[in-house]
Amino acid sequence: MNLAGRLRALIGQSGPLPLSRFMADAVAEYYATREPFGAKGDFTTAPEISQMFGEMLGLWAVDTWTRLGRPRPCALVELGPGRGTLMADLLRAGRVEPGFHEAIAVHLVETSAGLRARQRAALAGCGKTLTFADRLGEVPDMPFLLLANEFFDALPIRQFQKVGAEWRERLVGLDAAGQFAFRLAPEPADLAGLLAPEQRDAPPGSVVEIGLPARAIGAEIAGRALRHPGAALAIDYGAPLPGLGDTLQALRRHAHAPPLRDPGEADLTAHVDFAAIAAAARGAGARVFGPLAQGEFLGRLGIRLRAARLKAAASPPQAIEIDQALERLTAPAAMGSLFQCLCIASPALDEIAPFDPAEP
Ligand SMILES: C[S@@+](CC[C@H](N)C(=O)[O-])C[C@H]1O[C@@H](n2cnc3c(N)ncnc32)[C@H](O)[C@@H]1O
Repeated sequence: MNLAGRLRALIGQSGPLPLSRFMADAVAEYYATREPFGAKGDFTTAPEISQMFGEMLGLWAVDTWTRLGRPRPCALVELGPGRGTLMADLLRAGRVEPGFHEAIAVHLVETSAGLRARQRAALAGCGKTLTFADRLGEVPDMPFLLLANEFFDALPIRQFQKVGAEWRERLVGLDAAGQFAFRLAPEPADLAGLLAPEQRDAPPGSVVEIGLPARAIGAEIAGRALRHPGAALAIDYGAPLPGLGDTLQALRRHAHAPPLRDPGEADLTAHVDFAAIAAAARGAGARVFGPLAQGEFLGRLGIRLRAARLKAAASPPQAIEIDQALERLTAPAAMGSLFQCLCIASPALDEIAPFDPAEP
């Protein structure tokens, strides 16, 4: 039985499911069975657009490693490494800093066996041993640099809708035709302590999204950063401030698809709640920088200089491609504003480039 069949049977037995259960199963199935990346897949991520993205993150990594006191050994952790492109570009750029390569141990947190194989192939010549983990908790507790690009958006969320003065959970059930459809839970949900002040007084009809796994990972990173020198960079699409609204979306062949149709066959994501992750990390004692819009982040790190360097050695068609990639990564109308960068770091660090100083 395929995943849709299994989920229908489960709903038939136990009733409507939290969206988080539906999403977790759909995302796991999707990455286990599909080739999602590139023109022939469903979407294209920043490292797949241009080597410049991973190279800028490489500069961020060596600069941050220096600020951390050049720990050796230092885990270089990536959550959801996709095809391994970001890590390959980062490691190449990291060679500018003597001692960096020797100090780092690469840990890839990836649940998909197929993508692990892709990552092994992409990183075959990088000169580092790769250690794989299913979850961050399996990575040794030690000084660290951590990167997560378009990882948090795949983590399961729950949705709640305001009905009168109460919040009711939006559950996934079946309609009369046996298709997946949202159903409101009959009983109110207690969201005390889970909502930001801006969300509490939402008008009736509003939808709020709560991603407990994302918050838990934010707190877990913070805990590590309290025990060891460390810094984590999360890059994803989402609003910098707490918001309202249904952001669940499915992408298939680069086009939007109905999110509940065909679980496991489309890329199912939701906007990342950066404010909630930042609050979880601050609450656990870490220092938080940003969020900073991706265009600003890459601009401050010097991506325009890098593009000019690459263009100096490029053919005219390649130079056009470099300009187009730069525009896609940084322009506000493309990925420059929608994508945000958040850094969670050890409390001793009061500056991390290229962020503004953290609030005390
Ligand atoms: C959208 S892709 C991003 C890939 C890559 N970071 C990039 O920018 O190209 C999401 C990645 O996260 C992985 N992933 C999704 N959910 C995960 C989970 N719960 N635990 C570990 N990895 C997960 C996927 O297998 C995939 O590698």
